[in-house]
Amino acid sequence: MTPPRRQPAPRRTAALRREAVLAAVPVAVAALLGAAGPTAAGTPGASGAGDPYFPLSGNGGYHVRHYGLTLRYDTSSRHLDGRAVLTARATQNLSRFDLDLTGLKVTGVTADGRSAVFRRDGQELVVTPRHTLVAGRDFRITVTYEGTPKPVTDPDGSADGWIPTDDGAFVAGEPQGAMTWFPANAHPRDKSSYDITITVPQGRTAVANGVLLGQRTAHGRTTFRWRETQPMAAYLATATVGKFKVEQYTTPDGIRVYNAVDPREASGAAPVLKKLPSVLRWESELFGPYPFRSAGAIVDHANVGYALETQTRPLYDSAPDLSTLVHESAHQWFGDSVSLTAWKDIWLNEGFATYAEWLYAEQHGGDSAQKAFDALYARPASDHLWAFPAGDPGSGKNIFDTPVYARGAMTLHELRKAVGDHDFFRILRAWTAAHGGGHGTTAQFQRLAEQISGKRLDGLFHTWLFTKGKPKNA
Ligand code: TRP
Ligand code: ZN
Repeated sequence: MTPPRRQPAPRRTAALRREAVLAAVPVAVAALLGAAGPTAAGTPGASGAGDPYFPLSGNGGYHVRHYGLTLRYDTSSRHLDGRAVLTARATQNLSRFDLDLTGLKVTGVTADGRSAVFRRDGQELVVTPRHTLVAGRDFRITVTYEGTPKPVTDPDGSADGWIPTDDGAFVAGEPQGAMTWFPANAHPRDKSSYDITITVPQGRTAVANGVLLGQRTAHGRTTFRWRETQPMAAYLATATVGKFKVEQYTTPDGIRVYNAVDPREASGAAPVLKKLPSVLRWESELFGPYPFRSAGAIVDHANVGYALETQTRPLYDSAPDLSTLVHESAHQWFGDSVSLTAWKDIWLNEGFATYAEWLYAEQHGGDSAQKAFDALYARPASDHLWAFPAGDPGSGKNIFDTPVYARGAMTLHELRKAVGDHDFFRILRAWTAAHGGGHGTTAQFQRLAEQISGKRLDGLFHTWLFTKGKPKNA
């Protein structure tokens, strides 16, 4: 429960729909002027999605509908060969646009099948197609690249992205690491479907998101083909490689489970992984139907210091305890299905996943959520818990810090007390039903809670999320 945690603690979104509507306007105007088509004037897409915490994450001017990634990783040389085929839709007339990619060597870029001019500028891969990309139309970008991927160091000092291990790689992209292994529109505002095909030396397993379509061994290498059809933020993609024991089954609810476990963690992981179907069923009752068709876990043996809620298949750096499994599973609803539009709203991920841990304990013979709340509230005003408000962490350095997790969960507990259990759980289910597959903001969550409860909650949200220091009365 104390983060950063070792074991810590196909709908488009409203925003994107709005962009699509706006995008349609210039097309119509251009058509009237007879200027539509490849000769239309365009402007460059922005180099970032406009997030002050990570100004260069994501890009402007287009939405990626689908990523087709074909990767080959040599675990002994640590060399990665990649080919990324992006199907994207322009949201403005684009003279050029950026992708996020760091390290690695780009050997070619095509736009709609024709070679495009590109240059590197820090973490931006700047692509200039031969012709303007027209607002509202789809285009296809192919990037071929290679090299030795290296993780990025986040503002809080942790490593994220492609992290080499003794038998492969632990691939975790939150908040910035997707760009270490594929060219992306790497901000959670942009969600896409993925096909990830990974070839590794025979004997290693490569695990990504969604369903395993097939696996084939030839000439000493095995290729794994994965598909995630549900919209996914780039940071939730993985292509983790290692020597894994694999277990596959389908739950009575029809969820396809794929677990990959490092043998060194197998005995520790087994009793916890056995509970995954019952945890998902319990969470479905509380949060609404499980948002995806597949599930599972990747339990690696790596010194990373945190787990990640990779979509459909959370990634653990060692055998998780039950409360960590509950936490990462809860993120499938809160974070993965309902996604952030800005990193400052991170409590919508971490506060909710932490509160799921409290609820699980409460309903399974452990401490009540009230007791967990009280223990935290007893901490003095000087405690780090009160260092900054959960709803406004201030910078990317703070997004995985205690106030976000713990005070975020305390906020939900205060909400529950204010509206009562019945409305509280209705709010959680209405939230996932209304925003699942897309995005949600703190303001939208407050409004929904007010609508369902019929209560004014601005004081509560203001106090618990946005006021500096320890709130006076709980
Ligand atoms: N979101 C992860 C969790 O389940 C934590 C996490 C992801 C993290 N990336 C990180 C923590 C980087 C610290 C640093 O809580
Ligand atoms: Zn979390």
